[in-house]
Amino acid sequence: MNMLEVKQLDKIYSGKVATHALTNINLTVRQGQFVGIMGPSGSGKTTLLNMVSTIDKPSNGEVMINGKNPNTMRKGALAEFRRRELGFVFQDFNLMDTLTVEENIVLPLTLDYRKLREMEQLVQQMASRLGITNILGKRTYEISGGQRQRTAIARAIIARPSLILADEPTGSLDSKSARIVMESLSSINVEDGTTIMLVTHDPLAASYCDRIIFIKDGELAGEIQRGDSRQAFYQQIIDTLSSWGGHADELSSVRL
Ligand SMILES: Nc1ncnc2c1ncn2[C@@H]1O[C@H](COP(=O)(O)OP(=O)(O)OP(=O)(O)O)[C@@H](O)[C@H]1O
Ligand SMILES: [Mg+2]
Repeated sequence: MNMLEVKQLDKIYSGKVATHALTNINLTVRQGQFVGIMGPSGSGKTTLLNMVSTIDKPSNGEVMINGKNPNTMRKGALAEFRRRELGFVFQDFNLMDTLTVEENIVLPLTLDYRKLREMEQLVQQMASRLGITNILGKRTYEISGGQRQRTAIARAIIARPSLILADEPTGSLDSKSARIVMESLSSINVEDGTTIMLVTHDPLAASYCDRIIFIKDGELAGEIQRGDSRQAFYQQIIDTLSSWGGHADELSSVRL
């Protein structure tokens, strides 16, 4: 089943100079797939993620998530849809500094008026999955970057979303923390069957995906699929990126 369908999507930012950030993007993502989006800086990756995550609206075309078009929803329904169906993970974590780790994780549920006992149980489950049980009482400025991102992931999955949207989740982390974060996302994908869309510059992070979609100048520029070996996929990603070398005509080496 397709959980995400993007059809003829265009995004034009108006402003002093109008920017055509995305042009005619068509893509479908199966339920349970782990999709990576790669491409040069300014190519439209975050814009695409923002269209899918309903943070911003397309200029043309449509986004369907589980057969629903969030852009036609009223404000209240959209807020609820985002809270229940989508999980967000950002490069700079977006945690609340005045709250503890535990309070940050539980935040999406408190907005949904869940029972206290249930919330406490869920926090414990999420924390143990992400290996952050021992820091639940700390404030976010008292923990490491990797722990912050694992806190953000726990918060993103506590409401059991069907789609996780992650924009450069390893962009501020050292390589060891980046691996731990990618392994967490990967196990959520495998164990819960949660669909994940990940924007990344990092070939190692990308190698945890099932499939990588490349974007260049706001257009789809090709894609590759992972086989059995993550190691081989990593090499394939490196080769694809280096074959670009800034020349569009070298994109022919990417399977379209
Ligand atoms: N709010 C905005 N208003 C106007 N132009 C924007 C806005 N956001 C992005 N753009 C422009 O749209 C294009 C795509 O930007 P986007 O942020 O999607 O790129 P990106 O691929 O995520 O880049 P990076 O890898 O640097 O994060 C760029 O030319 C950018 O300058
Ligand atoms: Mg970006």
